[in-house]
Amino acid sequence: MSDQRTLITTNDGSHSLRVDALNETYHSVHGALQEAQHVFLKEGFYKTEGEVAILEIGFGTGLNAFITMLEAHKKGRRVNYVGIEKYPVPEDMIRALNYGELLGEAEWFDEIHVLNWEMVIPVSDYFTLSKLEKDIADIDFTQQFDIIYFDAFAPDKQPEMWSKAIFEKMYKALIPGGFLVTYCAKGQVKRDLKEVGFQVENVPGPPGKREMIRAGKP
Ligand SMILES: C[S@@+](CC[C@H](N)C(=O)[O-])C[C@H]1O[C@@H](n2cnc3c(N)ncnc32)[C@H](O)[C@@H]1O
Repeated sequence: MSDQRTLITTNDGSHSLRVDALNETYHSVHGALQEAQHVFLKEGFYKTEGEVAILEIGFGTGLNAFITMLEAHKKGRRVNYVGIEKYPVPEDMIRALNYGELLGEAEWFDEIHVLNWEMVIPVSDYFTLSKLEKDIADIDFTQQFDIIYFDAFAPDKQPEMWSKAIFEKMYKALIPGGFLVTYCAKGQVKRDLKEVGFQVENVPGPPGKREMIRAGKP
């Protein structure tokens, strides 16, 4: 995958990045922030209670970690967050993103990004972050996570991310009763998730998308 990324503004005024070689954006062009809040908070984090461990596949801009941290602070919930990213976004692009300003929390957004990678860091009383520069194909977690934020590029752009081998890794990484959420709602993805043992639910999608998937580990 080529590294060339361009900053774009989506319809809710929040930024995103486009990978020029794939002609693929990091978020929905209808609104990066509103998509992240819907898919990962409303249909993910808000469906749980108490302390949770979250694995994000495709840490990218750190938007999902950032909004989850702010919610953890607001609700007084402890979150242990692990973000996997094969192609970290260069620092100058991170600095250009407007998520911190839009949510009035610019210092916390910067804080997430200045932290070292490959370490478990208590960012606050409620949020512990571990950013791992890693290919998802190389992860090997066993029953560690309550929620997986599966935020890969679309199946037609990066099909290897949506293979049964990857779904098996995610299934293994979840505790029983845990679940993954993704913006995707493709029939083939649902069938493959079911084949590896997930219980697949269609839930309402973010603006511009009728449905998305939540898939639980029984
Ligand atoms: C749709 S973007 C979402 C990024 C992020 N969640 C955000 O909000 O900015 C997909 C992310 O997956 C990353 N990625 C692509 N291939 C990967 C792989 N094999 N392992 C881990 N991450 C990968 C990309 O670099 C990109 O950051």
